[in-house]
Amino acid sequence: MNEATKIQPKLKHIAFIMDGNGRWATRQGLPRLAGHKAAMESMQALVEELVRLQVPYASFYAFSTENWSRSVEEVTGLFALLEHYFTKELDRLKAQNIRLQFLGDHTENSRLSPSIRKIIAEAAASTAGNTGTTLLIALNYGGHDELVRAAQGLAAAGTPITPASLEGALDTAGIPNPDLLIRTSGEQRLSGFMPWQLAYTELYFTPTFWPDFGPTHLHEALAWYAGRDRRFGKA
Ligand code: IPE
Ligand code: IPE
Ligand code: MG
Repeated sequence: MNEATKIQPKLKHIAFIMDGNGRWATRQGLPRLAGHKAAMESMQALVEELVRLQVPYASFYAFSTENWSRSVEEVTGLFALLEHYFTKELDRLKAQNIRLQFLGDHTENSRLSPSIRKIIAEAAASTAGNTGTTLLIALNYGGHDELVRAAQGLAAAGTPITPASLEGALDTAGIPNPDLLIRTSGEQRLSGFMPWQLAYTELYFTPTFWPDFGPTHLHEALAWYAGRDRRFGKA
């Protein structure tokens, strides 16, 4: 039995809202982008620990549909970092048997550039056969947007809308819903992240900024999770 399942046998999916990069940087007198750069390193360390723990699925909120309202400089810098991560770090991810999938609107009509669309399509395709931890990266993701796209897809196909058909039309089709959500930086809100999937998820909020959140903090969250009583409506 692996370490994560020892902590909680049914833990299949951990979701992360990686927040507080800007404040982390500002506190040190650095530009916000320095926070995003540090965030990628923090994510890498976390991913290594998740792989070590054999957590089957981990999702990361990287860029929301609302984040386009930030300055051009910040958005451009963020995408440059993401492009770097999913190209230059790809071999490292592959070596860890990681499968990459992306949540959000990545269609031709989306606001994503052709270059990032190509990069994520290739990252997903080239890791599709891997059998270790699946990383779900939410990029140009919004919960309302996802639900509307799912409903529109069903309507266009003439499929009756049921809980099962709607769940199967989401970006996370076939993936178990998160057991645990971790949001850093002290904000206690979902900011549009997986409104359908998080309906019965245990929510863990920590004041630690994302660039400071490491494996030790993850273990604190897992210990908290192990003490939760998940009733799913039962008495
Ligand atoms: C999270 O950190 C990363 C993204 C939303 C892309 P922020 O950039 O939101 O950092 P704060 O919340 O402003 O400190
Ligand atoms: C949520 O963080 C989005 C991501 C982490 C990508 P935000 O910083 O955008 O959320 P709000 O604006 O504080 O709600
Ligand atoms: Mg934020």
